[in-house]
Amino acid sequence: MTSISELKTHLDAEVTLTAWLTDKSGKGKLQFLKLRDGSGFVQATVFRPDVSEEVFEAAKRLGQEQSVRVTGTVRADERAPGGVELSVRDLSPIAALEGEYPVTPKEHGTEFLMDHRHLWLRHRRPWAVLRVRSCVQRAIQDFFHQQGFIRFDAPFFTSNAGEDTTELFEIDLFGESTAYLSQTGQLHAEAGALAFGKVYTFGPTFRAEKSKTRRHLLEFWMIEPEVAPSSHAQNMDLQEAMVSFIVRRVLAECAEEFALLGRDVGKLAGAAQGEYPRISYTEALEIIRTHIEAGDLPPNVQPDVRAVEWGDDLGAPHETILGYHFDRPVLVEKYPAAIKAFYMQPDPADPRLALCDDMIAPEGYGEIIGGSERIHEYALLKSRIEAQGLPLEAFEWYLDLRRYGSVPHAGYGMGLERVVAWLCGLDHIREAIPFPRMLTRMTP
Ligand code: 4AD
Ligand code: MG
Repeated sequence: MTSISELKTHLDAEVTLTAWLTDKSGKGKLQFLKLRDGSGFVQATVFRPDVSEEVFEAAKRLGQEQSVRVTGTVRADERAPGGVELSVRDLSPIAALEGEYPVTPKEHGTEFLMDHRHLWLRHRRPWAVLRVRSCVQRAIQDFFHQQGFIRFDAPFFTSNAGEDTTELFEIDLFGESTAYLSQTGQLHAEAGALAFGKVYTFGPTFRAEKSKTRRHLLEFWMIEPEVAPSSHAQNMDLQEAMVSFIVRRVLAECAEEFALLGRDVGKLAGAAQGEYPRISYTEALEIIRTHIEAGDLPPNVQPDVRAVEWGDDLGAPHETILGYHFDRPVLVEKYPAAIKAFYMQPDPADPRLALCDDMIAPEGYGEIIGGSERIHEYALLKSRIEAQGLPLEAFEWYLDLRRYGSVPHAGYGMGLERVVAWLCGLDHIREAIPFPRMLTRMTP
């Protein structure tokens, strides 16, 4: 059995495929069958004089998404997407269809497609996006292994908040106690970094955020490297090295996917090069203000957008303005400590600021990475936990990392779906994961 992706290497030879019919057309003596097999897409031609009567009739009766075994000769065809076509000699359906396949070639609304996500996955667009996702995942693993990291899996059930307590999903443990679904693997990754030096977690994370934006899921995948010892500056170097590595990898390996999506890959050239600009939070506010005052706004930002007051967080439109200001990701560093998480190391030059950064993607895709140097001093960390009103008992193990052999260390988290949405040029991150979980979407 051959796969469609291998056909190029079988020019003029006879092959057999197991495939599914995506569409068909034909007239008179010719039937054109559009086939897919998961590895790719190809057109097969059934020419009446070349096949038996039964085969020609079977080809005419095939329904959309019917499984079929096809034998034919591979022909080079420059106009065809994969450069080849199949001339059918024999064909037999594998299973009958139980009714009509719902996702027809006509235009469907996104809600309809998402209701049929389990079937829609078979179509070209999800095929391309989720293959890019897989390529990104492999690139991340390769990058970290080349850099001497080990993969370190954090638990999904936790007893403490890592980010914002309002975003925790609670789990009732048999009426005896409460656990939470992990919103970050970071705190456990810090234990890993002090044990192994360089670790990264790679798994699903959960946020009970009611926001229905194009950038938020209730369940998303995060990659969280953590390095001990390390500094804020080294942390930013690692982010840039990783993201540019990922972009170079997808540009090298996903040309067919990007072509299917109609993605202008020229827009990823800067991100592939590296040398990402680094600006402070305060400088970012100036850039945003200048754009607003000049009325020089990206197309999807409302004209009544307001500038950010020093001390406030950036909103989605502000990140969009920044994303359009640069031709590659930008690292915004040193936010006010008051709007960031409790564990971030204060800037020695100005303790109102945190030694942290967010990486903002171009083209309006917003924050793809959040990271920081961590507080390594025991007394300071303890006072921050108390000041936030967090339960100290739940953080005793985390404080142990500062009691015994503490060192300055740093790490970050990258949201996989946001990166895939940016690379693929998607309008909404729900398409960047096989089965998105949102307030309005729990099935299929
Ligand atoms: O900025 P965040 O909240 O950072 C952390 O969780 C840190 N503990 C990471 C660390 O330092 N180890 O989240 C990190 C990234 C964001 O930049 C964004 O890309 C993604 O996770 N993200 C989401 N993606 C999809 N849906 C959501 N609801 C997301 N919330 C965050
Ligand atoms: Mg963040």
